[in-house]
Amino acid sequence: MQFPKKLQHKITQRITLNSLRGLGKENSRIDFSSNDYLGFAKSEVIFNKTHQFLVDNNHKVNGATGSRLLSGNHKLYTIVEKQLAKLHNSETALVFNSGYDANIGFFASVPQRGDIILYDELIHASIRDGILLSNAKSFKFKHNDTKDLEEKILRFTQNNDSEIYVITESVFSMDGDSPDLTAISQIIKKHTNVHFVIDEAHALGVFDFGLIQKLHLEDVVFARIITFGKGLGCHGAAILGSKQLQQYLINFSRSFIYTTSLPPHALATIKIAYDELVISDSKAQLQQNIQHFISESNRLRLNFIQSTSAIHCCIISGNEHVKNMALQLQQHGFEVKPILSPTVPTNQERLRFCLHAYNSKEEITNVLENLATFV
Ligand SMILES: Cc1ncc(COP(=O)(O)O)c(C=O)c1O
Repeated sequence: MQFPKKLQHKITQRITLNSLRGLGKENSRIDFSSNDYLGFAKSEVIFNKTHQFLVDNNHKVNGATGSRLLSGNHKLYTIVEKQLAKLHNSETALVFNSGYDANIGFFASVPQRGDIILYDELIHASIRDGILLSNAKSFKFKHNDTKDLEEKILRFTQNNDSEIYVITESVFSMDGDSPDLTAISQIIKKHTNVHFVIDEAHALGVFDFGLIQKLHLEDVVFARIITFGKGLGCHGAAILGSKQLQQYLINFSRSFIYTTSLPPHALATIKIAYDELVISDSKAQLQQNIQHFISESNRLRLNFIQSTSAIHCCIISGNEHVKNMALQLQQHGFEVKPILSPTVPTNQERLRFCLHAYNSKEEITNVLENLATFV
């Protein structure tokens, strides 16, 4: 059977541009790449407590058996969604199977024909894909540029009675930086038809329960998307918002409706990971490591995109160049990943360092000193 020519052509193009993707292998290098910021994915305490919780409550099943609207709404959903709403100071929480599903499900169903979506130009692919499925018109604003966003809001609120949805990330996944959420909130508060939506995937656990809560902006935000596959070290996601929003999503969000729900053990892991997040010392350890990384990169005069999150990026233009740099660090025992175009814009290729509570200060100094020898 012949492989379709157009598909082969696209793969060949990727090879030519040095941007062909491939699956990695497990390795024993020092982790500066995973999203397991707090070390929860590897936590034996969380694993054992989850197992015990499932056994103690007689949840001895393997699968959900159906979608949430049919047979899959296990009673653990009520427990987890109540816990999430309480801890996140939100009226409700609605669990989705992943952050990708949550973003697709939200943007495909909430903004209506005639509405406007204003999105940061560097927004995550899952939000872009959701926007593509939406009937609303969408316009980008410059990355983290509050002034540009305000101008666009003013342009679309004049002579227009449509709803406007503003979407950004509290920590950008490929940059590690954050918008001025307080300034954006001030602008949004002036307009009743402007709705603030925020993806907190990389803020949860790094900044406690997310930056919106840290800045006390819960009441300004229409919807918060949180994911559990990063700082929480497990899997799944939730949309935090009002009872009406929850009811709307249950009725109209197709990625919520038409899929088998999470298995009970995934829900139990989310519950126990949150119990751990409340008491864990790992948050403070991670913060110390972030501070150490920033002061060491300043000492070595390395040029990173400004960030106080767990993600720190050093721009190295060109796919080949950045791949070689990453390879050198990997050969020295550090798992650092190159981020290539087209994932990021051409000439903005970068080395992405993810910091963890379990990285030692010595490991951080070593990886940066290594980097300093060849940039
Ligand atoms: C900003 C952002 N939103 C959403 C997602 C998707 O989350 P999940 O991995 O749970 O599908 C990611 C994951 O890469 C992300 O970085």
